[in-house]
Amino acid sequence: MDEDVLLVENLPVEGSSPAGGVISVWTLNRPEKLNALNKDSHTALKQACDEAEADDNVRVVVIRGASPPPVPEGKRQKPAAFAAGADISEFAGKNSDEVRPFFEDNAWERVWNLSKPTIAMVDGFALGGGTELALSCDLRIASTRAKFGTPEINLGLIPGGGGTQRLSNILGYGKAMEMVLTGEMVGSEEALRLGLINDVVEPEQLESRTMEMAENIAKKSPYTIKVAKRAVRSALDLGMSEGILAERSEFVALFDTEDKEIGVQAFLERKDAEWKGS
Ligand code: COA
Repeated sequence: MDEDVLLVENLPVEGSSPAGGVISVWTLNRPEKLNALNKDSHTALKQACDEAEADDNVRVVVIRGASPPPVPEGKRQKPAAFAAGADISEFAGKNSDEVRPFFEDNAWERVWNLSKPTIAMVDGFALGGGTELALSCDLRIASTRAKFGTPEINLGLIPGGGGTQRLSNILGYGKAMEMVLTGEMVGSEEALRLGLINDVVEPEQLESRTMEMAENIAKKSPYTIKVAKRAVRSALDLGMSEGILAERSEFVALFDTEDKEIGVQAFLERKDAEWKGS
């Protein structure tokens, strides 16, 4: 496996409690191929998910794409990309038996199933599997030059990393159908209007805006954050009545945690909460 396809950097969160909290920043690192996701990218992402899940210090995961390297004068500069999709070169000549095992254990689902909050930081192209990876995250912050889309239809394919389902959930049936059937790209202003992304900023501000949001979340109780993610997520799987019951059960159970008492007392005493994470 090419270890460099994904760079993992754990950045300390100042003032996190319990102490030692980090934001784990994962950089898809194939800028020459617009960070297209090949087999090694999936293996590396799955491994990073396992490590983040097992490491109590990891409070938030941010996924980004490596910037294109500068090119010599006269050569064409490659565009910025989060990820321009699955690596199309790995599709050539393959039949269903050959691709099935890969798609049955893929990185999109592993990111989706992380219990910790995830943020996609999207600069430039997020196409096909790139849009799907962004959709596997809980939040998406994009630059003004970001472009989303599911162009698989142009390859005689459909999205295979959860795109048809997660797009329908987030955009609604009509717009998801339009994106999947036409393969047309959506710019960041439209993506914001559609609710596909949470915020859009100039490329120069993308990192600071994303880290600001990551730090905000990383400073909450890590225990309560997981419960909050699980409760909101259950809205996708459960009907309203069942979902309300699930929320109530999670809410009531929080009254047996140390962090509920710590949070409430901190408010009453007008001081910062020092979370225990339990
Ligand atoms: N898989 C494999 N390689 C890819 C790729 C992908 N999904 N997307 C881009 N690349 C490669 C190109 O082949 C090219 O490689 P090369 O320099 O060795 O020839 C390099 O990345 C740069 O891409 P290029 O197409 O030259 O850039 P561009 O600015 O002309 O166009 C895109 C950018 C994103 C519009 C175009 O690359 C594209 O359409 N990519 C495929 C998107 C897609 O269909 N994704 C869904 C896959 S399921």
